[in-house]
Amino acid sequence: MTKRGVRFECSLLAGLALTGLALTPSATATEKVAISIDASKAGVQINRNIFGQFAEHLGHGIYDGIWVGPDSTIPNTRGIRNDVVAALKAIKVPNVRWPGGCFADEYHWRKGVGIQRTVSLNPNWGGVTETNTFGTHEFMDFVDQIGSDVYVSINVGSGTPQEAAEWLEYMTTAQPTTLEKERAANGHPAPYKISMLGIGNESWDCGGNMTPEYYLSQMKIYSRFVRNFNPAQQDKEQMLKIAVGPGGDEPRWTDWTETVMKAYQQHTWSWDINGLSMHSYTVGHWPPSYASVGFGETEYSQILKHTLEMDALISKHSAIMDKYDPQKRVALIIDEWGAWYAPLPGSNPGFLVQQNTLRDAILAALNLNIFARHADRVRGANIAQMINVLQAMIMTDKEKMVLSPTYYIFKMYVPFQDSTFLPVQFNSGTYSHDGISLPRVDAIAAEGKDGKLWVAFTNLDPNEAVEIELNVTGVTAKSTSGETLTASKVDSTNSFDAPNIVVPKPISAKAQGGKLTLKLDPKSVSVVSVE
Ligand code: AHR
Repeated sequence: MTKRGVRFECSLLAGLALTGLALTPSATATEKVAISIDASKAGVQINRNIFGQFAEHLGHGIYDGIWVGPDSTIPNTRGIRNDVVAALKAIKVPNVRWPGGCFADEYHWRKGVGIQRTVSLNPNWGGVTETNTFGTHEFMDFVDQIGSDVYVSINVGSGTPQEAAEWLEYMTTAQPTTLEKERAANGHPAPYKISMLGIGNESWDCGGNMTPEYYLSQMKIYSRFVRNFNPAQQDKEQMLKIAVGPGGDEPRWTDWTETVMKAYQQHTWSWDINGLSMHSYTVGHWPPSYASVGFGETEYSQILKHTLEMDALISKHSAIMDKYDPQKRVALIIDEWGAWYAPLPGSNPGFLVQQNTLRDAILAALNLNIFARHADRVRGANIAQMINVLQAMIMTDKEKMVLSPTYYIFKMYVPFQDSTFLPVQFNSGTYSHDGISLPRVDAIAAEGKDGKLWVAFTNLDPNEAVEIELNVTGVTAKSTSGETLTASKVDSTNSFDAPNIVVPKPISAKAQGGKLTLKLDPKSVSVVSVE
């Protein structure tokens, strides 16, 4: 994982440039911010896969978070929590990456199929026992229940091409092989569909500490032999093969991107990739030491400054990819991102438990906006992680469940899934605190699949409201309606006892002479449709 955010000396201009073409630092607290959208200048598709999730065998991410077992008193369907499934269906999760993370490079799929499961260990994450009760069939059932696609990461670090090839045959073949019969006997005669295949995870680090050249030689072998046999998935675009990519902007990672992409440019019929993974967490300092709750404006502005560095990181690696793949055939898939803070006091440090606050909701919106502005190259992303781990959507404690502020951002942004990007012009203004300067406002716009114009605004300033004057070229806007998310403090959170502290509320705008004015509360994210 990258330790993004260790540099505090980034200049204001560099920081502002990160957020895209539209931002310049000149508005003041009292000024209105004029935002114009030209609806005739439709850009590329904002791929729904940028709203992907990540579920690793880590802490309570799978066990307790998803899986409680069929005999549990917690309402479940075949062992999978009904409350969690309902919550995830509402945010239309496009894909779930599983089983890791670092765990993937120690995962042996055979331990997790059949009646007799092997109890093993999870040395990466707390050294706890892994019952393998949640294996291939349970994961597929879960993904099916939430209506999502499958993103499986295969074991390159401690597995073999044969093991991975047999897992794919087990999951996908419709022909009467021994593995097909075993899958049918285990309850699933029909082949599974796999939309994305990760070839290793962080192979430069927990995935085996490989050099880029060594990884490349391994990746070609896995790309060649790990086949999807599902008759309905014979077009190679139907299962995207994702190679391990960079984890930051240091030379070792720019070298990594160079090595893989240079090879891709010369690739032959016998191997191929459709995506390059990138991991980038907002950490602040390594090891993670920022508190996830109980912080003030200084930590709020520092963390947001770090998170905005995502834009420069994407630009840097996209530029390398452009050299070798100007047609942008290979997607950049940010399949681990989000805030990584100090473990909550009293929790197992190996379980990566942290709180989720309004700051995280704003952080999520800023990153989704960055991904949308890079939609030509960034066609997938997976926030880490879905339940009970890091910047989670959902927290559970036995029968209790609570939805985090970040969950609500993913819910509010649903209209952006597979929408068409529209350029937005505005002067962001500047919010400054304690030597940190940030854009005050951020915004993206898109034409949704529903044909409506959708705009997302973020007011980063925790103290001042902002008045937006919205002008849509070629459209006489009559009204807007949507939702806004804010709370009284930057570290406001939802808890099991008080689950509705940070929840979206309706927002609407007045129309005058074809222009709309909208007041954004301090420290808020709003998503509206314009009629
Ligand atoms: O998300 C936690 C861990 O962070 C993942 O297992 C690993 O890929 C990354 O370093």
